[in-house]
Amino acid sequence: MTLSAIEVNHLKQAPTIEGVLSAVVSRWSSRSFADREVSPADLTKIFEAARWSASAYNEQPWRFLVGARGSETYKKIFSTLIGFNKEWAAAAPVLILGAASSTFSHNGSANAYALYDLGAAAGALTLQAAALGLRTHSMAGFDHDAARQVFQIPDDYLLGAVIALGYQGEPSALSQPQLLSLEIAPRTRKPLNELVLSAWGTPAELA
Ligand SMILES: Cc1cc2nc3c(=O)[nH]c(=O)nc-3n(C[C@H](O)[C@H](O)[C@H](O)COP(=O)(O)O)c2cc1C
Repeated sequence: MTLSAIEVNHLKQAPTIEGVLSAVVSRWSSRSFADREVSPADLTKIFEAARWSASAYNEQPWRFLVGARGSETYKKIFSTLIGFNKEWAAAAPVLILGAASSTFSHNGSANAYALYDLGAAAGALTLQAAALGLRTHSMAGFDHDAARQVFQIPDDYLLGAVIALGYQGEPSALSQPQLLSLEIAPRTRKPLNELVLSAWGTPAELA
């Protein structure tokens, strides 16, 4: 028996630790998307969250190409996805492609933090989406050269990820057993004592 979207959403919540932002707890990467558009007002909020991220020298190196289903931009982003991602991302009402300028505009030198900043902005975007009841799913599985070509992205821009955005759909809408099992799989994480250190190899004592 397949779980419902509500049951899957429950299963995917991060274990609650008091005080952790509810958007952090509720964010997860769905592959099933409902046939429901994202409002322009919500899209604006999502990109405002990205816009107000921190960046080295306040360069704001990120650029986001965004397309709603049916648009030329959407079709172009979708065309660059690898086959596995095409299987499920076709249901997403919005696709986003992130890029970052690899040079600082104030002096033309290399910006080694461009992708860091793009990732931070994308993180804010995904949390804002979660706070609005939306789901995001980042994808590295796309053809970078094809993306550069279809959008004529300048060489000095690095490409980040494609992000599928929309409302969670019923897991039963996923046609393939592999996709369904991923959709209902519990989320796992490394323990904090592996990730947070006081010296290399030594867990920090947080509490
Ligand atoms: C940069 C990045 C690239 C990813 N690429 C893909 C992808 O190409 N296809 C896919 O199905 N999931 C992709 N994912 C989703 C991850 O597998 C997912 O975020 C991870 O398993 C953790 O699950 P959660 O986001 O639900 O917490 C990607 C995630 C990130 C952040």
